[in-house]
Amino acid sequence: MFTAREQEALDEVKKTFIKRGFLIQQAELDLIKSVGRGAAGQTYLAKYKDHDVAVKKYSQDILRNDLPSVINEMKFMLDLEHKNIVPFEGIVLELEPPSVMLVSTFAINGDLLDAIHRRKKFADSPLEEKVVTAMGIAEGLQFIHKAGIIHRDVKCANILLSDSMTPWIADFGFSRLIDRVNTMTGETGSYRYMAPEVIKASKYSDKADVYSFGVCINELFTNEQPFRGTQPYEAARNVVLLGVRPDYRRVPNVTLQKLIRACWQANESRRPSWSLIVGVLQEVLDDIEMEKKLEATRIAENKREFTRVSDTIRGRTDNDRERSKAEKDRDSGKPSSDNDDRGVQRNEDPRNHQPGTDNDTGIRGFFRKFKR
Ligand SMILES: Nc1ncnc2c1ncn2[C@@H]1O[C@H](COP(=O)(O)OP(=O)(O)O)[C@@H](O)[C@H]1O
Ligand SMILES: [Mg+2]
Repeated sequence: MFTAREQEALDEVKKTFIKRGFLIQQAELDLIKSVGRGAAGQTYLAKYKDHDVAVKKYSQDILRNDLPSVINEMKFMLDLEHKNIVPFEGIVLELEPPSVMLVSTFAINGDLLDAIHRRKKFADSPLEEKVVTAMGIAEGLQFIHKAGIIHRDVKCANILLSDSMTPWIADFGFSRLIDRVNTMTGETGSYRYMAPEVIKASKYSDKADVYSFGVCINELFTNEQPFRGTQPYEAARNVVLLGVRPDYRRVPNVTLQKLIRACWQANESRRPSWSLIVGVLQEVLDDIEMEKKLEATRIAENKREFTRVSDTIRGRTDNDRERSKAEKDRDSGKPSSDNDDRGVQRNEDPRNHQPGTDNDTGIRGFFRKFKR
């Protein structure tokens, strides 16, 4: 199946991975079930050394037609280690019969696309949680770019969610794979996330990932698939020819709306840097935190005010009771049993006279009845 040159390249890869301790024997994996199908092949949930892993089994078609992309992806995974990159566990590389697999830690919460639309993981989550997710994605992509790699296929299906809902960027080295027409349409949905310059197949930079990031987080904040109801190819055409973008109006924060729109500007040089993106997201988080504190203060103030008002009312009611008792005692000729007549005096003092204290209606009346 492989040419002599390809065999040579694969031997080289094998040596590197053995040296680094990342070569897995197929027999060490216990494939359990399929969890996803993408452009490169089928991905399975499997057991490896007693824990759950994801195994991407490259299709024979990809091995035959696009081996350089497969090798790229493996090498990138070996070198990229970051809290927002899917942890790499190793590769299976067997030539007879050809069996090439990429093994990563299993993301228990699936991919972001599923989490938004099928599992509804974010349906009731506060904005803060989504901003933290967006921040993780931004930090992962920032790291990739610093390592000199453009992802080129940033989309919700390629962002995984760990057990603690930490976003993990997955599916690397796809630039050449996504150039293949059959992988750009239909199921993979990449077109909906692609920057105009990528669609046009003109020269593009890491800013293409910034564009796709904007589309992804817009989907996260609005729970809406980009260009829903429009065919991917038509959506892509509208993006390039008409400058159409996904609907951002349901993003519940103006700063986030501005950030998203900045990310998907047609002029790639005007799209923000990762440090600006991370900075803006942090600001939004700080604002949410501040708003929470203000709200807590408002509640505390309201409580204090409530206590003050009810104390005043209760004080008045006590005074009224004391006064009527004193009046009764006086009428029956008994000396006042109340040794503390401050309340009576306070009520008799015209300066302390409060409107409404002389009748038995309203809040005072309620309290009086309530006390009986
Ligand atoms: N580590 C993982 N944990 C859980 N699910 C995964 C993992 N890796 C991939 N998947 C699932 O498999 C799908 C395809 O994997 P991906 O690496 O994107 O392959 P492809 O190159 O074929 O698109 C993903 O969209 C996701 O749903
Ligand atoms: Mg994928």
